[in-house]
Amino acid sequence: MNGEASALAPLLAEIANDAPRYYGQGRVNTSIPKLAAVDPNQFAIAVATLDGDVATAGSANVPFSIQSISKVFSLCLALSYVGEDLWDRVGRNPSGMRFNSLTRVELEKGRPANPFVNPGALVVADCLVERAATPIHTFVGYLRKFAKSARIGIDYDVARSELSMAFRNFAAASLLKDYGNLHGDPNGIVYAYTHFCAATMSCVELARAALPLANEGRDPATGQELLPPGRSRRINALMLTCGLYDAAGDFAYRVGLPAKSGVGGAIVAVVPNRMAISVWSPELDELGNSVAGFAALERLAREADLSVF
Ligand code: DON
Repeated sequence: MNGEASALAPLLAEIANDAPRYYGQGRVNTSIPKLAAVDPNQFAIAVATLDGDVATAGSANVPFSIQSISKVFSLCLALSYVGEDLWDRVGRNPSGMRFNSLTRVELEKGRPANPFVNPGALVVADCLVERAATPIHTFVGYLRKFAKSARIGIDYDVARSELSMAFRNFAAASLLKDYGNLHGDPNGIVYAYTHFCAATMSCVELARAALPLANEGRDPATGQELLPPGRSRRINALMLTCGLYDAAGDFAYRVGLPAKSGVGGAIVAVVPNRMAISVWSPELDELGNSVAGFAALERLAREADLSVF
């Protein structure tokens, strides 16, 4: 199909050609031993536009670990179960501390700053575990529905590898339980959460999955309502302010789009009413965001004039 995304194909190719310039400037995530073994010198980018067109460059069909990007979809799913009541248990402001900080949980007496820091995502996971009989299976089905791809699954080796080192998340879950903000068993919640993070998607799948967030919650191809009216705007607002943690301000300044990153090296960004973009390159900066991915989005947003501001 030669639609709106295809018009960006030459620019995406240039960006992918340029990516090796950034290799060596970051470090692959080491907190998950299995991810530390990923080849660092990889790059992919995909753009999906509302007309159904997709343009790519680099290894755009190679699946990677979505990690914290899962938090966007687990949040959407939890909101579908509990609605706005979720906000009694989780805040909507940037945390000002690292995504896995326990200090902030203490300071806020067990109400995490937002759903994208790990403690917030654990509360979200608690909602899923409480309401879904098979939460991991349900979560994968939700991703598949958004991305329209039956290939999406969980990398159980990555999940097992993370669980062997997830002391901080176990601690966060225990602390949340102590404050009365987890209904389920803390270890079971960490187990489910870690498996959500270990979902694998390619850049093409991720861009397609985020497209409803650019389209008022509707599947652009069928018009099917995947999110109720108004919700995608709110999710986008949270991504803009909290999606890149401590780098959210810098990202808003340099790129100007709602986005969510993961320590697998992917970033997904939303251009409301136009497109969704995903990038992947495993080397991360000090704040846990893909170095080449961040630079790629900065260039694409500038040259294609995509900033929401
Ligand atoms: O819980 C963790 O720390 C990881 N499973 C996910 C962290 C992550 O992706 C943060 N994003 N940049």
